[in-house]
Amino acid sequence: MGAWIRRRGIHLLIAAASAASVYLLSASASAAMAAGIIALLPLLRPAGRTAPAATPAAAGPAARSDPLASARAAFAGFDSPVLLLNATGNLLYQNPAAIHAFGEIGKGQHISARIRQPAVLAMVKESLASGDPGSTEITTPMPSENVYLVRIVKAQGAADFFVLIFRDISETRRIDRMRTDFVANASHELRTPLASMRGFIETLQGPARNDAKAQERFLGIMHEQVNRMSRLVDDLLSLSRLELKARLAPDGAVDLVPLIGSVCDALAPLADDLGVEIVRHVPAGPVMVQGDADELTQVFENLIENACKYGQEGKTVDVTLTAEDGRPPEVDIRDHGTGIPEEHVPRLTERFYRVNVESSRSKKGTGLGLAIVKHILTRHRARLVIRSELGKGSTFTVRF
Ligand SMILES: Nc1ncnc2c1ncn2[C@@H]1O[C@H](COP(=O)(O)OP(=O)(O)OP(=O)(O)O)[C@@H](O)[C@H]1O
Ligand SMILES: [Mg+2]
Repeated sequence: MGAWIRRRGIHLLIAAASAASVYLLSASASAAMAAGIIALLPLLRPAGRTAPAATPAAAGPAARSDPLASARAAFAGFDSPVLLLNATGNLLYQNPAAIHAFGEIGKGQHISARIRQPAVLAMVKESLASGDPGSTEITTPMPSENVYLVRIVKAQGAADFFVLIFRDISETRRIDRMRTDFVANASHELRTPLASMRGFIETLQGPARNDAKAQERFLGIMHEQVNRMSRLVDDLLSLSRLELKARLAPDGAVDLVPLIGSVCDALAPLADDLGVEIVRHVPAGPVMVQGDADELTQVFENLIENACKYGQEGKTVDVTLTAEDGRPPEVDIRDHGTGIPEEHVPRLTERFYRVNVESSRSKKGTGLGLAIVKHILTRHRARLVIRSELGKGSTFTVRF
């Protein structure tokens, strides 16, 4: 019975510990989890001379003389950093995740020797004095800049000790930030044309009421702004639809040769206006891929349109489809324009990211094109590789 309780206690503790990685996301749930672990700890304490061994790690002779052996065995496999402290804040145990995150802290050393964050030290001090649980959020210094939710709970029993758990919430915070940025960007993009529309409507109702020429000009601009807003809304809807089916790989069969041909034909008038020639290097035979023809059309439209718009100075855009035997097909879209500064390249596929916002806006860009391209290619299990050299131009490669 004793062995069963001890074994079960360890399983429960390990289950609670791994559940913690989920629950710790919310502050209140994390308190409940930590309390849960602590409630289980007495089960893991040596049950005296009569208790038979359960596992070598938890219940050997060492465990009987060491009240922390069971807690150590459980926290060893915990993927968040955990420190066990005595009542004065000195280290009793540090799990491997904590060694990885903070380096090895000498046993018996005060945690302030390694953990310097004032918020954590203040929380520990208060909890050691009051015995109450505490929590705080910290950001580690550059370059790692991890965000941790740090909690402390007292474990009561034969030997009191404190459990300090660091939950890495960097990814959650990053996603939160992206979400707020996205809403802010989308509203900002809509606000600009809306404000200009309001201005024109007021002018048309007031000073330009009887000015037919001004009316025609303003209505033309308003028409452009409405088009811009509807492009933006279409792109946003397109992105959210793609997100919904991100995991569903398309199952149609698409021949890239005619598809690329018709995209180049459709963009020829735009290229003409910009003084650019689209040169195709495409094999004669069919080049089949598994995909959705409309979505792939959208991909090549945006990449070739970008190459014409932003690589205009290069005068030529080369579209090359390579399909060597046995190798997955590749499509290169290469311009010979001014290129993209290195620091911008990794961010180009972020929503609303533009190297030069004004230049993109003046070219009717919403900054969503490459984000849509990336989503479509992810769904197609294909990759987008961007290479660019200042003064020489850029190559956007789609690898199937
Ligand atoms: N071939 C290129 N050469 C130089 N800069 C480029 C090239 N392709 C894209 N960019 C840069 O990347 C940014 C993002 O491109 P993206 O296609 O996502 O948006 P956009 O073209 O501005 O708007 P949209 O595609 O929605 O009309 C562009 O604004 C431009 O600054
Ligand atoms: Mg674009």
